[in-house]
Amino acid sequence: MDGTEVVSRELQQIDAVISKHKGHHGELLSILEETQLLSEQQFLSEEALNHVALRTGVPLSRIYSVVTFYSFFNLKPQGKHKITVCRGTACHTKGSKALLDDLGLMLGCETALEGGDAFYTTPDNQFTISTVACFGQCALAPVVAIDGVIHSNVTSGTLQKLLARVSRRRVKA
Ligand code: FES
Repeated sequence: MDGTEVVSRELQQIDAVISKHKGHHGELLSILEETQLLSEQQFLSEEALNHVALRTGVPLSRIYSVVTFYSFFNLKPQGKHKITVCRGTACHTKGSKALLDDLGLMLGCETALEGGDAFYTTPDNQFTISTVACFGQCALAPVVAIDGVIHSNVTSGTLQKLLARVSRRRVKA
């Protein structure tokens, strides 16, 4: 199956999602949520959003305002594993910037960090790195979430072990 067929199949699936939710309360949110789930990399592509706008008649500007308001919508492809480093004051004081830098080194993505990018996905699509303003667990700083599980008092060493645990890939020491 070539790329065009894949896209056309995805658009057909989006049509089915739209039909399923049409006329129901909160239909736009449901349509967008399910459309994101259809994507292998768990994100809403420009093409998918344009298609939803075309088929539902909802202005694209309104669709963008919805997907940028809710944090569970992704506009960029997501890695298999999600790592979120807290960059709040307590975590910063306890070394969260160093953890972010270490992650870049371990995952071979130093250049992303040099560019000041706190959100990136590794080229093999295994990990998506992002930051958060505070997890509300400041007493346990520094805090890092991996696939939704909060880890406290994280050091570079524990981070390396955690990465190895969630992935079979070797991480750089
Ligand atoms: S500052 Fe990191 S959990 Fe609050």
